[in-house]
Amino acid sequence: MSEKSLATALVHAGRKKRYTQGAVNPVVQRASSLVFDCLADKKHATMNRAKGELFYGRRGTLTHFALQDAMCELEGGAGCYLYPCGAAAVTNSILSFVQTGDHILMTGAAYEPTQDFCNIILQKMGIATTYYDPMIGEDIARLVQPNSKVLFLESPSSLTMEVPDIPAIVKAVRKVNPEIVIMIDNTWGGGVLFKALEHDIDISIQAGTKYLVGHSDVMIGTAVSNARCWDKLREHSYLMGQMVDADSAYTTARGLRTLGIRLKQHEENSIKVAQWLAQQPEVKAVYHPALPSCPGHVFFQQDFLGASGLFSFELKQKLTQQQLEAFMDHFELFTMAYSWGGFESLILCNQPEEIAKIRPNISRKLEGTLIRIHVGLEDVDDLIEDLNAGFRRLNAI
Ligand SMILES: Cc1ncc(COP(=O)(O)O)c(C=O)c1O
Repeated sequence: MSEKSLATALVHAGRKKRYTQGAVNPVVQRASSLVFDCLADKKHATMNRAKGELFYGRRGTLTHFALQDAMCELEGGAGCYLYPCGAAAVTNSILSFVQTGDHILMTGAAYEPTQDFCNIILQKMGIATTYYDPMIGEDIARLVQPNSKVLFLESPSSLTMEVPDIPAIVKAVRKVNPEIVIMIDNTWGGGVLFKALEHDIDISIQAGTKYLVGHSDVMIGTAVSNARCWDKLREHSYLMGQMVDADSAYTTARGLRTLGIRLKQHEENSIKVAQWLAQQPEVKAVYHPALPSCPGHVFFQQDFLGASGLFSFELKQKLTQQQLEAFMDHFELFTMAYSWGGFESLILCNQPEEIAKIRPNISRKLEGTLIRIHVGLEDVDDLIEDLNAGFRRLNAI
């Protein structure tokens, strides 16, 4: 999709008359019960409950359908399931395609709770996980087992930001097992900067909590599926009781209207901040996918349509607790929080041993303190000055 058509699609996606009923935005239809006028209507609704007929609150209302349609249009899917948060989207997508005795391939640099889900819940169910290095490329073929049912990708990786060679990984795995279900945590690019389904990936998952919502005030997860996997994903997620309230669906659809312009500004600001950081004497390397110093930068250039605002950088030294507090505790604009993707700038730090603990299966090791920042929509010079003041505090110790 060209830049212009993406901008246009974001404004118009999902705004069918059936959903908007004379307004610009879809109606907020809050409902548990959806009423039928006669037995024939009830029968019709029951038979078409998975095809957009109003049936029962847990199957969704017009508000949910509007967001689901919009997500399918934007990501090129046959269906979109909505979950109460991104973690639920990840876990239910995996659970829909595995059973006891199966095996999955998981990136060793996945979002930590995704790894925990494999290590605790899947393990308890007798489903084995093999972690692969995100930079493995076509060598992943040797890790595929006869019982491998799911390949799970994330790009870029959480915290350490490696960008895998997704076309090579997907091609190699499909060559060994064409049936394997391939899914990706596609949160970083808001589902629009990396067109997962065009890369032969079956399911594109997002913590909509981040860029789709964009204002740090709603939690939601989305999984957009191709036709091959849609029926199974939908029915399994429904049986798991997954759903989201109408107000959250409405707010997410509203977020879509500004997603393109927000992402552009996050990209511009984050690249400027990243380039400035790369010049600072305290910084060992900047891991922003748009900079050559990021592992897998060439794959970012090859596969992504743009960058967002989240990246990390490694300091030359491992900071002491006193240095960490001096650096982290006094920013005026960057606040400390776990989530990201909203309009505001955020900062978090991790010591190398903390990173090593959540990356037991990959060879890349960090030596300095890792700082992850989300660059928001503030004036970029103000943000740089805020970071600069942090370095001054560090050097004053
Ligand atoms: C890459 C990634 N995936 C999934 C999630 C989980 O999303 P949620 O917090 O909405 O459950 C997060 C949250 O930080 C994330 O960063």
